[in-house]
Amino acid sequence: MGMSIMRCRFVPRTLYGLALGLSALASIPAHAADIAAGKEKAELCVGCHGEGGISQIENIPSLAGQPDQFIQWQLVFFRSGTRKSDEMQPVVEQISNEDIRNLGAYLASLTPPGPPAPDDNPGLSRKGAEAAAGRRCASCHTDTYAGTKAVARLAGQRKDYLLKALRDYKSGLRSGGGGAAMAEVAYPLSEEEITALAHYLAHL
Ligand code: HEC
Ligand code: HEC
Repeated sequence: MGMSIMRCRFVPRTLYGLALGLSALASIPAHAADIAAGKEKAELCVGCHGEGGISQIENIPSLAGQPDQFIQWQLVFFRSGTRKSDEMQPVVEQISNEDIRNLGAYLASLTPPGPPAPDDNPGLSRKGAEAAAGRRCASCHTDTYAGTKAVARLAGQRKDYLLKALRDYKSGLRSGGGGAAMAEVAYPLSEEEITALAHYLAHL
């Protein structure tokens, strides 16, 4: 698993060296992740990301059921400053490579968020489903939108956070580790499409 992420086509070349230098991911094969230790460390996260990794706070993502590698990469990006967040900065200063490995395994093992209340706007979901099909979102995020490897789970994520993420990619505020994958995908999206996509994905 440690090496497969290094070859993942969603990870840009410049980050291979970065991650190898940081060695959080490069050292994966050396020891198995410790889920119990990850759970203990995750007490640092509960205040923002919620009990069981299900966020109750606007603009803070749920982490439950995100792919292990996606979580690890995002933590490495925050730590290297490639991804910026005033909230996450002080957190990543307190965690080691081993913590990152354990947190990835623990958070990925949690039951992902179910859809929020019943869909109050099925018409908007239909538009979102059409936009997702037209833009081939599932080709990377998988048919169930559960994500895989370094590609995020989108199904059941908070709608406000999906909106923020898509706007951040579109504006260039977030460049992502997927090469230019998400920046390229988000750039041509209209605000109308973004709204429909976020609504659709949050209700999966
Ligand atoms: C003070 C609040 C706060 C704490 C504590 C916190 N986070 Fe976060 N976290 C955030 C916010 C806000 C974001 C979204 C940043 C953005 O908008 O790009 C985030 C994003 C993330 C992401 C990216 C997820 C995604 O879907 O893009 C990961 C992974 C993450 N946090 C892991 C953790 C872990 C693990 C801990 C505990 C060790 C933790 N966070 C503690 C506020 C917090
Ligand atoms: C070519 C592959 C690819 C395609 C196509 C793609 N994505 Fe992504 N997406 C990724 C990768 C890789 C990431 C993680 C990037 C990062 O590190 O920030 C991601 C991240 C995201 C995130 C951030 C999730 C989070 O929790 O932080 C959202 C939202 C998202 N994609 C939505 C979409 C939507 C909507 C579409 C279709 C319009 C789409 N993606 C198409 C590869 C893709």
